[in-house]
Amino acid sequence: MKMTKEEKYRLITQAKPGELAELQDKVNRSVWRQNYHIQPPTGLLNDPNGFSYYQGEYHLFYQWFPLGTDHGMKYWYHTKSADLATWDSMGIGLEPGGPYDSHGAYSGSAIEKDGRLYLLYTGNTRDEAWNRHPFQCLAYMNESGFINKLGQPVISSVPPGYTDHFRDPKVWKSGDDYCCVIGAQRTDRTGSAVLYRSKDLLQWEFTGEIKTRLPRFGYMWECPDYFELDDSGVLLFCPQGLEADEDRFNNIYQTGYVIGKPLNPLTLEFNHGPFEELDRGFDFYAAQTMLAPDGRRLLVGWMGLPDVDYPTDESGWSGCLTLPRQLTLRDGKLIQQPVPELAKLRKAMHSAEITLNNETKRLNGFEGISYELICEIANGDAAEVGLEFRAGGEEKTVLKYDGASNKLILDRSLSGQVLGEINGNIRRCRMAAGKLKFHLFVDVSSVEVFVNDGEEVFTSRIFPDPGSTEIRLFSYGGSAEFRVLKWDITSMEKGDESHVGKSA
Ligand code: FRU
Repeated sequence: MKMTKEEKYRLITQAKPGELAELQDKVNRSVWRQNYHIQPPTGLLNDPNGFSYYQGEYHLFYQWFPLGTDHGMKYWYHTKSADLATWDSMGIGLEPGGPYDSHGAYSGSAIEKDGRLYLLYTGNTRDEAWNRHPFQCLAYMNESGFINKLGQPVISSVPPGYTDHFRDPKVWKSGDDYCCVIGAQRTDRTGSAVLYRSKDLLQWEFTGEIKTRLPRFGYMWECPDYFELDDSGVLLFCPQGLEADEDRFNNIYQTGYVIGKPLNPLTLEFNHGPFEELDRGFDFYAAQTMLAPDGRRLLVGWMGLPDVDYPTDESGWSGCLTLPRQLTLRDGKLIQQPVPELAKLRKAMHSAEITLNNETKRLNGFEGISYELICEIANGDAAEVGLEFRAGGEEKTVLKYDGASNKLILDRSLSGQVLGEINGNIRRCRMAAGKLKFHLFVDVSSVEVFVNDGEEVFTSRIFPDPGSTEIRLFSYGGSAEFRVLKWDITSMEKGDESHVGKSA
């Protein structure tokens, strides 16, 4: 049941007596709680925020509505990690409810300056007529983890030519200056990204709109991010309002990127190639990147989408974050690979080598609901090869390569509890024939598939029966050789999943 406006825009401190305990109890009984992904203690998780490195640790916040699975009053929840594999829950990072974030501490980013970690975010407010008014706000975390909000916003108005859909600042250092890109909607209801500059993170000057080659591309761009990789500039953003185009843009909203020569921050010229979707799966949105101290560009996304109901809603929670990925460029394309640190989560290993010819074979002893799996398929003349996982009886999630169409296919139509038709349940993407390497991270209710070392990635929630644990391989229309390695992953050590953080 959906909440009323009044129920949605409540602070956690305004919960009714016993409400939170009841919700927590429901969540604890959910069969789809994840083992090694960041998920909310209760309520709804959406965008990753403030992904950064500070005082020797990675910090990763997320958009959080504690009291239910509606998009209600958004907090920043704080997690941190020394190794990108195990995360500690730190409780509330930013609490909304002030004059400039009365209706939510919306998405934003983080950057270190003078020994503090600054959090730049959108304060969402609503007036009596329920019109939104965004403010770009600043907070900082000190060495002991206490977070203070500045009393005044650092950008308090929307520049002429844009509507109040103006949010999600992503900050970075450019020479001696700081830049930030903000997702915006023009008054003609088209999406864009604008740039601001600052010397000190406090005073911001509006530079203008990034001159992309996509002047009319959706009605709003959310969660923009700009970074440089090798000698290229990459603009990552979430355009809303694109029409599906065969295998592309099949989700309700997209997350993708354009690559070009580095953005000229003075003229705002940005010459780039076509918009590419970052992920081919069903549940991926609002990705954010950071520069790790060793120079890697890391990315985390929300394994979910706005305006989609999830089967866990009934159990009082929804959404989780993807595993951290590292980005590189290969042939003008962004390549995403799981960070190698994740190997730390590996437990018992299983391996198999088999040749299949017009058959499906179950891998005995490989059963599981949460694991990492690498499956290499070679030397085949088969027309169709792949694997079924989280399988049991008729239930299965299928990942395959179809030689007739030269397409990779992820099919979750028999995965268990299927989602509504909003996003469909089959995804395809073209890939040249040849050797195949499927690298999967399966958790209790999700799968992330990295194909051929990150050339394509499929990120999806699945909601199978806890008893659907089999892994099966198949080859039809010929034979193929399979080499499989699997490691159980039982958990990620967690800190206290309490609601109470160190917010000042
Ligand atoms: C994207 C988004 C952002 C906004 C946040 C609010 O999912 O709509 O644009 O800041 O979520 O939770």
